[in-house]
Amino acid sequence: MRVCVVGSGGREHALAVALRRAGNEVVVVPGNAGIPGSEEADPVEVEADLVVVGPEQPLVEGLADRLRARGRLVFGPGADGAQLEGSKRWMKELLSAAGVPTARHGAFTDVVPAIDFLRSLEGPWVVKTDGLAAGKGVLVTTDVDEAADDVVAKLSGTAFGAAGRTVVIEEGLSGSELSVLAVCDGTRAVALAPAQDHKRLGDGDSGPNTGGMGAFSPVPAIGPELVDDVLDSAVLPTLAALSARGIDYRGVLYAGVMVTADGPKILEFNVRFGDPEAQVVLPRLSCDLGVLLAQAADGLLRSEPTFVDDAAVTVVCASEGYPASPRTGDPIEGIDVAAAGDGVEVYCAGVAAGPGGELVTAGGRVLSVTGLGPSLAGARARAYRAVSCLSWPGMHYRHDIAAPALTSSFPLAAEAGAGTSGPALGSPGAIREVTR
Ligand code: AMP
Ligand code: GLY
Repeated sequence: MRVCVVGSGGREHALAVALRRAGNEVVVVPGNAGIPGSEEADPVEVEADLVVVGPEQPLVEGLADRLRARGRLVFGPGADGAQLEGSKRWMKELLSAAGVPTARHGAFTDVVPAIDFLRSLEGPWVVKTDGLAAGKGVLVTTDVDEAADDVVAKLSGTAFGAAGRTVVIEEGLSGSELSVLAVCDGTRAVALAPAQDHKRLGDGDSGPNTGGMGAFSPVPAIGPELVDDVLDSAVLPTLAALSARGIDYRGVLYAGVMVTADGPKILEFNVRFGDPEAQVVLPRLSCDLGVLLAQAADGLLRSEPTFVDDAAVTVVCASEGYPASPRTGDPIEGIDVAAAGDGVEVYCAGVAAGPGGELVTAGGRVLSVTGLGPSLAGARARAYRAVSCLSWPGMHYRHDIAAPALTSSFPLAAEAGAGTSGPALGSPGAIREVTR
Protein backbone atom coordinates (compact mmCIF):
# COMPACT_ATOMS: atom_id res chain seq x y z
CA MET A 1 0.00 0.00 0.00
CA ARG A 2 1.18 3.58 -0.67
CA VAL A 3 0.56 5.74 2.39
CA CYS A 4 0.80 9.52 2.68
CA VAL A 5 1.57 10.69 6.22
CA VAL A 6 0.79 14.37 6.79
CA GLY A 7 2.90 16.25 9.32
CA SER A 8 6.48 17.07 10.18
CA GLY A 9 7.29 15.86 13.68
CA GLY A 10 8.58 12.88 15.65
CA ARG A 11 5.12 11.29 15.61
CA GLU A 12 5.01 11.38 11.81
CA HIS A 13 8.54 9.93 11.63
CA ALA A 14 7.42 7.09 13.92
CA LEU A 15 4.29 6.53 11.78
CA ALA A 16 6.48 6.35 8.66
CA VAL A 17 8.91 3.87 10.22
CA ALA A 18 6.10 1.61 11.50
CA LEU A 19 4.29 1.68 8.13
CA ARG A 20 7.49 0.90 6.19
CA ARG A 21 8.43 -1.91 8.55
CA ALA A 22 5.25 -3.70 7.40
CA GLY A 23 6.19 -3.23 3.72
CA ASN A 24 4.18 -0.12 2.88
CA GLU A 25 5.53 2.62 0.65
CA VAL A 26 5.44 5.93 2.56
CA VAL A 27 5.62 9.58 1.61
CA VAL A 28 5.67 12.17 4.42
CA VAL A 29 4.21 15.59 3.59
CA PRO A 30 5.98 17.89 4.31
CA GLY A 31 8.09 15.88 6.76
CA ASN A 32 11.49 17.35 7.54
CA ALA A 33 15.13 17.03 6.52
CA GLY A 34 15.64 14.12 8.95
CA ILE A 35 12.67 11.99 7.79
CA PRO A 36 13.34 9.84 4.71
CA GLY A 37 10.60 10.12 2.06
CA SER A 38 9.74 13.73 2.95
CA GLU A 39 8.16 15.79 0.20
CA GLU A 40 7.02 19.40 0.04
CA ALA A 41 3.59 18.97 -1.53
CA ASP A 42 -0.06 19.73 -1.02
CA PRO A 43 -1.48 16.56 0.61
CA VAL A 44 -4.56 16.87 -1.57
CA GLU A 45 -2.35 16.44 -4.65
CA VAL A 46 -0.40 13.38 -3.43
CA GLU A 47 -1.42 10.01 -4.92
CA ALA A 48 -1.88 7.47 -2.10
CA ASP A 49 -4.07 4.51 -1.14
CA LEU A 50 -4.37 5.89 2.38
CA VAL A 51 -3.72 9.30 3.93
CA VAL A 52 -2.88 9.49 7.65
CA VAL A 53 -3.12 12.98 9.13
CA GLY A 54 -0.74 13.35 12.09
CA PRO A 55 -1.26 16.74 13.81
CA GLU A 56 -4.40 18.31 15.26
CA GLN A 57 -4.20 21.68 13.49
CA PRO A 58 -4.92 20.46 9.93
CA LEU A 59 -7.65 18.14 11.29
CA VAL A 60 -9.34 21.06 13.07
CA GLU A 61 -9.03 23.04 9.83
CA GLY A 62 -10.83 20.31 7.86
CA LEU A 63 -8.01 18.66 5.88
CA ALA A 64 -9.61 15.23 6.27
CA ASP A 65 -12.88 16.61 4.84
CA ARG A 66 -11.08 18.08 1.83
CA LEU A 67 -9.29 14.79 1.19
CA ARG A 68 -12.49 12.75 1.52
CA ALA A 69 -14.23 15.12 -0.86
CA ARG A 70 -11.57 14.05 -3.39
CA GLY A 71 -12.42 10.40 -2.79
CA ARG A 72 -9.36 9.63 -0.64
CA LEU A 73 -9.29 6.99 2.09
CA VAL A 74 -8.36 9.05 5.17
CA PHE A 75 -7.40 8.15 8.71
CA GLY A 76 -8.26 11.19 10.83
CA PRO A 77 -11.55 12.86 11.82
CA GLY A 78 -13.24 15.65 9.90
CA ALA A 79 -13.41 19.19 11.29
CA ASP A 80 -16.64 18.27 13.13
CA GLY A 81 -15.02 15.48 15.18
CA ALA A 82 -11.75 17.37 15.58
CA GLN A 83 -13.60 19.97 17.69
CA LEU A 84 -13.00 17.52 20.54
CA GLU A 85 -9.46 18.85 20.59
CA GLY A 86 -10.06 22.23 18.96
CA SER A 87 -12.39 23.38 21.74
CA LYS A 88 -12.05 22.12 25.29
CA ARG A 89 -15.41 23.69 26.09
CA TRP A 90 -17.11 21.66 23.34
CA MET A 91 -15.28 18.53 24.47
CA LYS A 92 -16.35 19.01 28.08
CA GLU A 93 -19.98 19.57 27.03
CA LEU A 94 -19.91 16.39 24.97
CA LEU A 95 -18.34 14.39 27.82
CA SER A 96 -21.01 15.62 30.24
CA ALA A 97 -23.78 14.72 27.79
CA ALA A 98 -22.25 11.27 27.29
CA GLY A 99 -21.83 10.66 31.02
CA VAL A 100 -18.06 10.24 30.75
CA PRO A 101 -16.23 10.64 34.08
CA THR A 102 -14.22 13.88 34.04
CA ALA A 103 -13.22 16.75 36.36
CA ARG A 104 -15.87 19.24 37.51
CA HIS A 105 -15.54 22.33 35.33
CA GLY A 106 -16.99 25.54 33.97
CA ALA A 107 -16.30 27.49 30.76
CA PHE A 108 -16.10 31.29 30.75
CA THR A 109 -15.48 34.30 28.55
CA ASP A 110 -15.84 36.94 31.30
CA VAL A 111 -13.49 37.50 34.21
CA VAL A 112 -15.95 38.04 37.07
CA PRO A 113 -17.98 34.81 36.79
CA ALA A 114 -14.76 32.93 35.99
CA ILE A 115 -13.06 34.08 39.19
CA ASP A 116 -16.23 33.41 41.22
CA PHE A 117 -16.32 29.84 39.93
CA LEU A 118 -12.57 29.41 40.50
CA ARG A 119 -12.90 30.49 44.12
CA SER A 120 -15.82 28.12 44.65
CA LEU A 121 -13.57 25.13 43.93
CA GLU A 122 -11.23 23.51 46.36
CA GLY A 123 -7.64 23.39 45.09
CA PRO A 124 -5.61 22.43 43.21
CA TRP A 125 -6.93 24.61 40.39
CA VAL A 126 -6.67 24.05 36.66
CA VAL A 127 -7.04 26.78 34.02
CA LYS A 128 -7.11 25.82 30.33
CA THR A 129 -7.35 27.74 27.09
CA ASP A 130 -10.40 26.63 25.12
CA GLY A 131 -8.46 26.57 21.84
CA LEU A 132 -5.28 24.88 20.67
CA ALA A 133 -2.04 25.85 22.44
CA ALA A 134 0.39 23.00 21.62
CA GLY A 135 0.02 21.44 25.07
CA LYS A 136 1.09 24.66 26.77
CA GLY A 137 -2.26 26.30 27.53
CA VAL A 138 -2.86 24.48 30.82
CA LEU A 139 -1.96 25.75 34.29
CA VAL A 140 -2.25 23.40 37.26
CA THR A 141 -1.54 25.13 40.56
CA THR A 142 -2.10 24.96 44.32
CA ASP A 143 -2.05 28.79 44.47
CA VAL A 144 -5.53 30.22 43.83
CA ASP A 145 -4.14 33.72 43.22
CA GLU A 146 -1.82 32.40 40.54
CA ALA A 147 -4.83 30.66 38.97
CA ALA A 148 -6.83 33.91 39.10
CA ASP A 149 -3.98 35.85 37.43
CA ASP A 150 -3.80 33.19 34.74
CA VAL A 151 -7.56 33.48 34.08
CA VAL A 152 -7.16 37.23 33.57
CA ALA A 153 -4.10 36.82 31.31
CA LYS A 154 -5.83 34.17 29.17
CA LEU A 155 -9.19 35.97 28.87
CA SER A 156 -7.52 39.27 27.94
CA GLY A 157 -5.91 37.57 24.95
CA THR A 158 -2.39 38.56 26.02
CA ALA A 159 -1.30 35.05 26.96
CA PHE A 160 -2.64 32.88 24.11
CA GLY A 161 -4.46 35.20 21.72
CA ALA A 162 -7.86 33.99 20.50
CA ALA A 163 -7.28 30.46 21.89
CA GLY A 164 -7.48 31.87 25.43
CA ARG A 165 -10.49 34.18 25.09
CA THR A 166 -12.57 31.33 26.45
CA VAL A 167 -11.18 29.44 29.42
CA VAL A 168 -12.14 26.15 31.00
CA ILE A 169 -11.63 26.08 34.76
CA GLU A 170 -11.48 22.67 36.42
CA GLU A 171 -11.00 21.03 39.77
CA GLY A 172 -7.55 19.43 39.97
CA LEU A 173 -7.65 15.65 40.00
CA SER A 174 -4.99 13.63 41.71
CA GLY A 175 -3.69 10.28 40.62
CA SER A 176 -1.48 9.06 37.83
CA GLU A 177 -1.78 9.82 34.16
CA LEU A 178 -2.18 7.34 31.38
CA SER A 179 -2.54 7.76 27.62
CA VAL A 180 -4.88 5.33 25.91
CA LEU A 181 -4.92 5.63 22.13
CA ALA A 182 -8.00 4.06 20.54
CA VAL A 183 -8.26 3.45 16.81
CA CYS A 184 -11.88 4.21 15.81
CA ASP A 185 -13.90 3.50 12.65
CA GLY A 186 -17.03 5.52 13.51
CA THR A 187 -18.78 2.91 15.64
CA ARG A 188 -16.00 0.55 16.75
CA ALA A 189 -12.83 1.14 18.73
CA VAL A 190 -9.76 -0.86 19.64
CA ALA A 191 -7.10 0.26 22.08
CA LEU A 192 -3.39 0.29 21.38
CA ALA A 193 -0.93 -0.56 24.15
CA PRO A 194 -1.12 2.02 26.96
CA ALA A 195 1.62 4.59 27.48
CA GLN A 196 2.58 7.23 29.99
CA ASP A 197 3.85 10.66 29.01
CA HIS A 198 6.03 13.06 31.04
CA LYS A 199 4.50 16.47 30.36
CA ARG A 200 6.55 18.75 32.62
CA LEU A 201 9.81 20.23 31.40
CA GLY A 202 12.09 19.27 34.26
CA ASP A 203 13.19 16.24 36.23
CA GLY A 204 10.85 15.22 39.04
CA ASP A 205 7.91 16.81 37.17
CA SER A 206 9.19 20.34 37.76
CA GLY A 207 8.74 23.37 35.52
CA PRO A 208 6.05 24.22 32.96
CA ASN A 209 3.89 21.86 30.91
CA THR A 210 5.29 21.02 27.48
CA GLY A 211 4.06 19.00 24.54
CA GLY A 212 5.70 15.98 26.25
CA MET A 213 9.34 15.32 27.21
CA GLY A 214 9.32 11.55 27.04
CA ALA A 215 7.10 8.49 27.31
CA PHE A 216 7.12 4.77 27.93
CA SER A 217 5.00 1.72 27.10
CA PRO A 218 3.76 -0.59 28.52
CA VAL A 219 2.84 0.94 31.87
CA PRO A 220 3.51 -1.32 34.86
CA ALA A 221 0.34 -2.43 36.68
CA ILE A 222 -1.89 -1.32 33.80
CA GLY A 223 -3.37 -4.33 32.14
CA PRO A 224 -6.23 -5.06 29.77
CA GLU A 225 -8.95 -4.55 32.40
CA LEU A 226 -8.12 -0.90 32.98
CA VAL A 227 -7.73 -0.25 29.25
CA ASP A 228 -11.12 -1.91 28.63
CA ASP A 229 -12.60 0.22 31.41
CA VAL A 230 -11.38 3.38 29.60
CA LEU A 231 -12.90 2.10 26.34
CA ASP A 232 -16.25 1.24 27.94
CA SER A 233 -16.59 4.25 30.25
CA ALA A 234 -15.14 6.93 27.97
CA VAL A 235 -14.25 6.07 24.38
CA LEU A 236 -17.43 4.21 23.33
CA PRO A 237 -19.84 6.68 25.01
CA THR A 238 -17.94 9.49 23.28
CA LEU A 239 -18.17 7.76 19.90
CA ALA A 240 -21.90 7.22 20.52
CA ALA A 241 -22.39 10.90 21.43
CA LEU A 242 -20.47 11.96 18.31
CA SER A 243 -22.51 9.61 16.18
CA ALA A 244 -25.75 10.97 17.69
CA ARG A 245 -24.60 14.40 16.46
CA GLY A 246 -24.08 12.98 12.98
CA ILE A 247 -20.28 12.80 13.34
CA ASP A 248 -18.64 9.74 11.79
CA TYR A 249 -15.38 9.66 13.74
CA ARG A 250 -12.61 7.74 11.95
CA GLY A 251 -9.23 8.26 13.52
CA VAL A 252 -7.48 8.08 16.87
CA LEU A 253 -9.36 9.02 19.99
CA TYR A 254 -6.55 9.63 22.43
CA ALA A 255 -7.83 9.56 25.98
CA GLY A 256 -5.70 11.50 28.44
CA VAL A 257 -6.69 9.66 31.61
CA MET A 258 -6.16 10.36 35.28
CA VAL A 259 -6.29 7.07 37.15
CA THR A 260 -7.82 8.22 40.44
CA ALA A 261 -8.84 6.35 43.56
CA ASP A 262 -12.40 6.42 42.07
CA GLY A 263 -11.28 4.90 38.78
CA PRO A 264 -10.18 6.42 35.49
CA LYS A 265 -11.33 9.96 34.64
CA ILE A 266 -10.81 11.77 31.36
CA LEU A 267 -8.57 14.85 31.44
CA GLU A 268 -8.94 15.44 27.71
CA PHE A 269 -9.46 13.84 24.36
CA ASN A 270 -7.06 14.42 21.51
CA VAL A 271 -7.98 13.56 17.94
CA ARG A 272 -4.63 12.11 16.83
CA PHE A 273 -1.75 9.96 17.98
CA GLY A 274 0.07 11.41 21.00
CA ASP A 275 3.51 12.86 20.54
CA PRO A 276 5.71 11.36 22.05
CA GLU A 277 3.36 8.44 22.86
CA ALA A 278 3.41 7.36 19.20
CA GLN A 279 7.19 7.00 19.47
CA VAL A 280 6.78 4.24 22.10
CA VAL A 281 3.48 2.61 21.07
CA LEU A 282 4.13 2.23 17.32
CA PRO A 283 7.59 0.60 17.58
CA ARG A 284 5.96 -2.16 19.68
CA LEU A 285 3.35 -3.04 17.01
CA SER A 286 3.82 -6.46 15.47
CA CYS A 287 1.00 -6.17 12.90
CA ASP A 288 0.68 -4.04 9.76
CA LEU A 289 -0.22 -0.53 10.90
CA GLY A 290 -1.32 0.31 7.36
CA VAL A 291 -3.98 -2.43 7.36
CA LEU A 292 -5.28 -1.36 10.78
CA LEU A 293 -5.56 2.32 9.83
CA ALA A 294 -7.02 1.56 6.38
CA GLN A 295 -9.75 -0.58 7.96
CA ALA A 296 -10.63 2.19 10.40
CA ALA A 297 -10.58 4.78 7.61
CA ASP A 298 -12.91 2.54 5.62
CA GLY A 299 -15.37 2.23 8.52
CA LEU A 300 -14.85 -1.48 9.08
CA LEU A 301 -12.31 -2.27 11.78
CA ARG A 302 -11.87 -6.04 11.94
CA SER A 303 -8.27 -6.95 12.76
CA GLU A 304 -6.98 -6.51 16.27
CA PRO A 305 -3.57 -4.93 16.71
CA THR A 306 -0.81 -7.09 18.16
CA PHE A 307 2.25 -5.97 20.10
CA VAL A 308 5.61 -7.40 20.99
CA ASP A 309 6.34 -7.92 24.68
CA ASP A 310 9.38 -5.63 24.42
CA ALA A 311 9.08 -2.33 26.25
CA ALA A 312 9.84 1.06 24.72
CA VAL A 313 11.09 4.29 26.28
CA THR A 314 11.50 7.57 24.41
CA VAL A 315 13.48 10.61 25.54
CA VAL A 316 12.78 13.96 23.89
CA CYS A 317 15.84 16.14 23.26
CA ALA A 318 14.84 19.80 23.16
CA SER A 319 16.48 22.98 21.95
CA GLU A 320 17.78 25.86 24.06
CA GLY A 321 14.86 27.92 25.33
CA TYR A 322 12.10 25.29 24.86
CA PRO A 323 9.19 25.65 25.62
CA ALA A 324 9.11 29.46 26.00
CA SER A 325 11.30 30.51 23.06
CA PRO A 326 13.20 27.71 21.34
CA ARG A 327 16.39 28.69 19.54
CA THR A 328 16.82 27.28 16.03
CA GLY A 329 19.76 26.76 13.69
CA ASP A 330 22.08 24.87 16.06
CA PRO A 331 23.97 22.05 14.28
CA ILE A 332 22.98 18.57 15.52
CA GLU A 333 25.86 16.15 16.12
CA GLY A 334 25.75 12.40 16.56
CA ILE A 335 22.45 11.22 15.02
CA ASP A 336 24.08 8.41 13.01
CA VAL A 337 26.05 7.09 16.00
CA ALA A 338 22.97 7.30 18.25
CA ALA A 339 20.73 5.55 15.71
CA ALA A 340 23.25 2.72 15.20
CA GLY A 341 22.71 1.45 18.76
CA ASP A 342 20.91 -1.88 19.26
CA GLY A 343 17.15 -1.43 19.66
CA VAL A 344 17.31 2.32 19.03
CA GLU A 345 15.22 4.55 16.78
CA VAL A 346 15.95 8.25 16.46
CA TYR A 347 12.87 10.17 15.32
CA CYS A 348 13.40 13.65 13.88
CA ALA A 349 10.97 16.41 14.87
CA GLY A 350 12.26 20.00 14.89
CA VAL A 351 14.99 19.33 12.33
CA ALA A 352 15.94 21.16 9.13
CA ALA A 353 18.84 21.18 6.68
CA GLY A 354 21.46 23.85 7.39
CA PRO A 355 23.32 25.85 4.74
CA GLY A 356 25.78 23.01 4.07
CA GLY A 357 23.11 20.29 4.12
CA GLU A 358 23.91 19.34 7.73
CA LEU A 359 20.99 18.81 10.13
CA VAL A 360 20.21 21.76 12.41
CA THR A 361 17.60 22.42 15.07
CA ALA A 362 14.37 23.93 13.75
CA GLY A 363 11.93 23.76 16.64
CA GLY A 364 11.47 23.11 20.34
CA ARG A 365 11.33 19.33 20.47
CA VAL A 366 14.16 18.33 18.14
CA LEU A 367 14.60 14.56 18.42
CA SER A 368 12.77 11.76 20.14
CA VAL A 369 15.11 8.88 20.94
CA THR A 370 13.41 5.53 21.52
CA GLY A 371 15.02 2.47 23.08
CA LEU A 372 13.36 -0.95 22.82
CA GLY A 373 14.27 -3.88 25.03
CA PRO A 374 12.93 -6.89 26.88
CA SER A 375 12.36 -4.81 30.04
CA LEU A 376 11.48 -1.18 30.74
CA ALA A 377 14.86 -0.80 32.49
CA GLY A 378 16.68 -2.20 29.46
CA ALA A 379 14.74 -0.05 27.01
CA ARG A 380 15.47 2.99 29.15
CA ALA A 381 19.20 2.25 29.27
CA ARG A 382 19.29 1.94 25.47
CA ALA A 383 17.46 5.23 24.99
CA TYR A 384 19.78 7.14 27.35
CA ARG A 385 22.91 5.53 25.88
CA ALA A 386 21.81 6.81 22.46
CA VAL A 387 20.98 10.26 23.88
CA SER A 388 24.54 10.48 25.26
CA CYS A 389 25.84 10.32 21.65
CA LEU A 390 23.88 13.46 20.67
CA SER A 391 24.77 17.09 21.13
CA TRP A 392 24.06 20.65 20.04
CA PRO A 393 24.47 23.95 21.86
CA GLY A 394 21.76 24.18 24.52
CA MET A 395 20.37 20.63 24.04
CA HIS A 396 18.42 19.55 27.10
CA TYR A 397 16.31 16.59 28.13
CA ARG A 398 14.84 14.95 31.19
CA HIS A 399 17.00 12.40 32.98
CA ASP A 400 14.15 10.57 34.69
CA ILE A 401 11.92 9.34 31.86
CA ALA A 402 10.31 6.03 32.94
CA ALA A 403 12.35 6.09 36.18
CA PRO A 404 9.32 6.29 38.55
CA ALA A 405 7.81 3.25 36.82
CA LEU A 406 10.81 1.15 37.84
CA THR A 407 10.28 1.72 41.56
CA SER A 408 8.05 -0.34 43.81
CA SER A 409 6.27 2.85 44.91
CA PHE A 410 5.02 3.61 41.37
CA PRO A 411 1.62 5.07 42.25
CA LEU A 412 -0.41 3.49 39.47
CA ALA A 413 0.14 0.10 41.06
CA ALA A 414 -1.90 1.19 44.09
CA GLU A 415 -4.48 3.28 42.23
CA ALA A 416 -5.23 0.68 39.60
CA GLY A 417 -5.39 -2.02 42.26
CA ALA A 418 -2.19 -3.99 41.84
CA GLY A 419 -2.75 -7.64 41.15
CA THR A 420 -6.17 -7.10 39.64
CA SER A 421 -5.06 -5.52 36.44
CA GLY A 422 -3.32 -8.32 34.61
CA PRO A 423 0.17 -8.50 33.24
CA ALA A 424 2.18 -5.36 32.60
CA LEU A 425 3.36 -6.57 29.21
CA GLY A 426 1.16 -7.88 26.46
CA SER A 427 -1.65 -6.95 24.15
CA PRO A 428 -4.69 -4.81 24.79
CA GLY A 429 -8.28 -5.94 24.40
CA ALA A 430 -10.59 -6.70 21.55
CA ILE A 431 -12.50 -4.48 19.14
CA ARG A 432 -15.53 -3.03 20.94
CA GLU A 433 -18.62 -1.59 19.36
CA VAL A 434 -21.05 1.14 20.32
CA THR A 435 -24.35 -0.45 21.36
CA ARG A 436 -27.42 1.04 19.80
P1 AMP B 1 -4.71 18.67 28.90
O1 AMP B 1 -4.11 19.41 27.73
O2 AMP B 1 -6.12 19.02 29.17
O3 AMP B 1 -4.43 17.20 28.89
O4 AMP B 1 -3.82 19.11 30.14
C1 AMP B 1 -2.43 18.98 30.12
C2 AMP B 1 -1.94 18.40 31.41
O5 AMP B 1 -2.39 19.18 32.52
C3 AMP B 1 -2.47 17.01 31.69
O6 AMP B 1 -1.73 16.03 31.07
C4 AMP B 1 -2.34 16.95 33.19
O7 AMP B 1 -0.98 16.72 33.56
C5 AMP B 1 -2.70 18.34 33.61
N1 AMP B 1 -4.14 18.42 33.91
C6 AMP B 1 -5.13 18.74 33.05
N2 AMP B 1 -6.34 18.72 33.65
C7 AMP B 1 -6.12 18.38 34.92
C8 AMP B 1 -6.97 18.19 36.07
N3 AMP B 1 -8.29 18.37 36.01
N4 AMP B 1 -6.38 17.83 37.23
C9 AMP B 1 -5.04 17.65 37.31
N5 AMP B 1 -4.20 17.82 36.29
C10 AMP B 1 -4.70 18.19 35.10
N1 GLY C 1 1.90 13.88 24.55
C1 GLY C 1 0.80 14.73 24.66
C2 GLY C 1 0.14 15.01 23.40
O1 GLY C 1 0.43 14.47 22.37
O2 GLY C 1 -0.77 15.83 23.44
